[in-house]
Amino acid sequence: MNSGDHNIEGEVQRLRSAAYRLEVAGLKPARLGIVLGSGLKDFAEHLEDPIVISFNDMPEFPRTRVRGHGGELIQGRVGDTLVHCLTGRVHLYEGHHVWEVVRAVRTLALFGTSNFLLTNAAGGIRKDLAPGTLMLLTDHINMTGTNVLLGDHHECLGPRFPPMSRVYSETARKILQSASPKPLAEGVYAQMMGPSYETPAEIRMLSLVGADAVGMSTVPEAIALHAMGCRVAAMSLITNNAAGVTEDVPNHDEVVSEGAKAAKRMSKLLLSAIPALGRLGRRKANC
Ligand code: HPA
Repeated sequence: MNSGDHNIEGEVQRLRSAAYRLEVAGLKPARLGIVLGSGLKDFAEHLEDPIVISFNDMPEFPRTRVRGHGGELIQGRVGDTLVHCLTGRVHLYEGHHVWEVVRAVRTLALFGTSNFLLTNAAGGIRKDLAPGTLMLLTDHINMTGTNVLLGDHHECLGPRFPPMSRVYSETARKILQSASPKPLAEGVYAQMMGPSYETPAEIRMLSLVGADAVGMSTVPEAIALHAMGCRVAAMSLITNNAAGVTEDVPNHDEVVSEGAKAAKRMSKLLLSAIPALGRLGRRKANC
């Protein structure tokens, strides 16, 4: 995307056109939107009466190119709860503009979904966050050097200066905690731009500034959705120890295979939390 395309009116037009395409395809606004991160897309297999829309049929959506990431919007039910799953996402490190990174979730929000669960793979910085741990986000640190709300403002996407004091819903977090057979870890997620993993010195810095886990996604989506008035919950699957925490060196194969190993556990948790998450009130999008 070149800088000439960064016109906010054009962007909102693209979002409206994408939302209209979903309506034409017969989709309905869901009670919950879920973004499935690296290696976690198998959850979508649990959806009943699925309708699958490939990102290839959504000309407004950018294409993901990362192994382990799908590229579909799947509508389906968990019991009575209508859910939209995005199997995979696009990332800043692929060279996408930050508006492209959030286009799919903003489309769902415009379409009428107001509760979201964002999932990702992350490296554990805090000592107790070993590979295989699920961590609920209590807050984030944006280390990407960009912000999804940068540029011209459009009311449709939220206020000019939205507060970020409570991005991650405590209510949704409590629901996820009660759905888990044992207490889930909680912590602060820092997003780096990537795609290189961090150096041990960067991880020491992140630890000093209060980060418990580190990854390369989620923060633009959380900021964009929270600004739009949506309720956001987010969960990291810790796939590896962050650089320098142990002798191990992070690698993408490990991230994908830990994702696959934990997918069953995460799916079980989501299946039991979704009915209550789906009952959380709706919030009306502003346009
Ligand atoms: N660093 C950044 N992103 C990641 C990591 C990591 O250690 N693990 C999974 N995603």
